[in-house]
Amino acid sequence: MADAASQGARVVLLGPPGAGKGTQGKVLCERLGVPSISTGDMLREAVTEGSELGNKVQGIMASGALVDDATMADVVRDRLAKPDARRGFLLDGYPRTLPQAETLAGILRDAGQDLDAVLLVDVPEDELVRRTLLRGREDDQETVIRERLRVYREKTAPLIGYYSERGLLREIDGNRPVEEVTARMFDLFGVGAAEAAGATEAD
Ligand code: AP5
Repeated sequence: MADAASQGARVVLLGPPGAGKGTQGKVLCERLGVPSISTGDMLREAVTEGSELGNKVQGIMASGALVDDATMADVVRDRLAKPDARRGFLLDGYPRTLPQAETLAGILRDAGQDLDAVLLVDVPEDELVRRTLLRGREDDQETVIRERLRVYREKTAPLIGYYSERGLLREIDGNRPVEEVTARMFDLFGVGAAEAAGATEAD
């Protein structure tokens, strides 16, 4: 991971809703020079466009449930095939189930690639609810947030063990100020705090 900034990297951001994956992902992807691929953002764009995919997923997202694995496999396979993802990517919000993790492993295997790291950003549940209520996205009503958290515990949390067994998991305390979380993340990728601060100022 020490040369991640110069060599590109294939990274998954894992964590519950509201942990700060999107917030941190935007900064880290710039530093690593790879695209940030947020499946949540892609689906929200599809809903805004009123595309076939958007119409299919709108109600599912509003309820806090997960879109089915086969649909998500098509979305992610197409996105990772784009030229900008050749050097690497930061995946935010995918995989979210064990079958999705197997799909991702298959896509990478076919391309002769491997993941470099899975970054788990964790935050206590009360703080997650507080943050998401403040944010106020369409799916940020308390009942929907509680459902997203329940789905996370049931379907996504098993990925922690899955990636830990494969030696890929790195954990970060997300219950710290944004800048501290960023600095810790850059440390993990072998980019010093001073260098990281310089990179942010230059953007
Ligand atoms: P998605 O958009 O991926 O939502 P999520 O995982 O629930 O994550 P969030 O976007 O809510 O949170 P985040 O961790 O990115 O936090 P953020 O940086 O925004 O998915 C939405 C829906 O799409 C799903 O429910 C599902 O229906 C569908 N979907 C997507 N991918 C799918 C998949 N693979 N399979 C099936 N379905 C899928 O931060 C949150 C707030 O906290 C912000 O306001 C931020 O400013 C603030 N904040 C961030 N960090 C800090 C900090 N350190 N201190 C204080 N505040 C902070």
